[in-house]
Amino acid sequence: MSDERMLIVGGHRLEGTVHVSGAKNSAVAIIPAAILSDTPCVIENLPNIEDVRVSVETLRYLGATVDWQPESGTMSIDASTITRTEVPLELSRKMRASSYYIGALLARFGEARVPMPGGCDIGRRPIDQHLKGMRALGAAVETSYGMVVAETNGLVGTDIFMDMVTVGGTINVMLAATRAEGITIIHNAAKEPHIVDLANFLGSIGCRVKGAGTDTIRIRGNRGLSARRPYAIIPDQIETGTLMIAAAGTHGDVTITGCIPTHMEALTAKLLEMGARVDEKDDAIRVRSLGAHRPVSFKTQVYPGFPTDLQQPMSALLCTAAGTSRVVENIFESRFRHLAEMERMGANVRVYEQTAVIEGVPQLHAAAVEASDLRAGAALVIAGLMAHGTTEIYNTHYIDRGYEHLETKLNSLGAEISRFIP
Ligand code: EPU
Repeated sequence: MSDERMLIVGGHRLEGTVHVSGAKNSAVAIIPAAILSDTPCVIENLPNIEDVRVSVETLRYLGATVDWQPESGTMSIDASTITRTEVPLELSRKMRASSYYIGALLARFGEARVPMPGGCDIGRRPIDQHLKGMRALGAAVETSYGMVVAETNGLVGTDIFMDMVTVGGTINVMLAATRAEGITIIHNAAKEPHIVDLANFLGSIGCRVKGAGTDTIRIRGNRGLSARRPYAIIPDQIETGTLMIAAAGTHGDVTITGCIPTHMEALTAKLLEMGARVDEKDDAIRVRSLGAHRPVSFKTQVYPGFPTDLQQPMSALLCTAAGTSRVVENIFESRFRHLAEMERMGANVRVYEQTAVIEGVPQLHAAAVEASDLRAGAALVIAGLMAHGTTEIYNTHYIDRGYEHLETKLNSLGAEISRFIP
């Protein structure tokens, strides 16, 4: 971790065309899923971000043979050389998705030792539902001294009812169930686009998964899984949304190519309500904005509701809307820490438990601010683009966890962003 900072000279209108990268949250699920294949897998369209680099390090530590070409976004993974089933603490604490190695290693080798995962500090993030699912499939799972130890002599498919809708829990149980005997049915499953992406990847290596994208997913276990063709992951829904909000926040005119507009409907509806113009094509979205924005209120929800990962960037935009907006964060209890930083930039915000009340001000002004997590960092970048003066963002390493070449992309649209190490 360095003390590198990002400098943003605000006030530039973003204009032009920008291409969206592959989805972080698909990448961090599909890379461990490659462990399930008996033959090498080729994954395409992977973003060159820190969480993918940590995933590569994890696979290599386990003994997999990984060829990662960051410039082309292509990775080939041969899991047949894996010799270890334990993930070290220094890797697992770097990202939330380390927990997926429990499901994947358990399914392939019958054992996994993975320290409780780290990741963004945005509230309580237990993995009880992940472990409940694995126990239901027949694994013995213990946690002691912060280490999850899972073992089995053979998993057997069953019906699993999730107590709440959990993205990570759904993914982990899907991974564990792929090589189980018989059929697993996950009820109350998450429906996020990356769940569907993982199901499609599992299909591409020969596992039959039905119902992904609905709340009931059915997986027919198969011990003979093998990759037959390269698999390209979906575009990043959250990067697309971040760029859409940046376009609106700078009263710009930006076309985002390579995205999936249907994944963006909750955000698109709110931007339209604010008075921005959003035009969709098959794989592109154009966002234009002139004049003042109307305030809007929203609650974060599971997909297809408004995503919690866009709550922080969106609340930056609301800071200059003409009136009062209310934002309810229903998924994570500590996801408003960026607002205190934006108050330094002149935002007028009050937080009551899980609700933020944002009174729009005419103009944000630059300040030195600190990112507390990945999407908080994205929110501060947007605030910096909107502000008068030069904003300095500390803790840029959070931004690099999940955005590929963010400032290069924004600068190509007319932003003025640089980095320096003091
Ligand atoms: N929960 C439990 N028990 C569990 C699992 C979850 O109580 O076993 C609770 C959590 O405390 C939370 C809620 O259920 O209140 C939802 O958590 P979920 O499991 O859906 O989240 P996650 O898997 O930890 C993923 C993304 C997050 C994104 C959330 C919600 C990955 C690697 N992470 O986290 O992405 O915010 O889903 O959509 O896919 C990000 O990209 O910045 C990010 C944080």
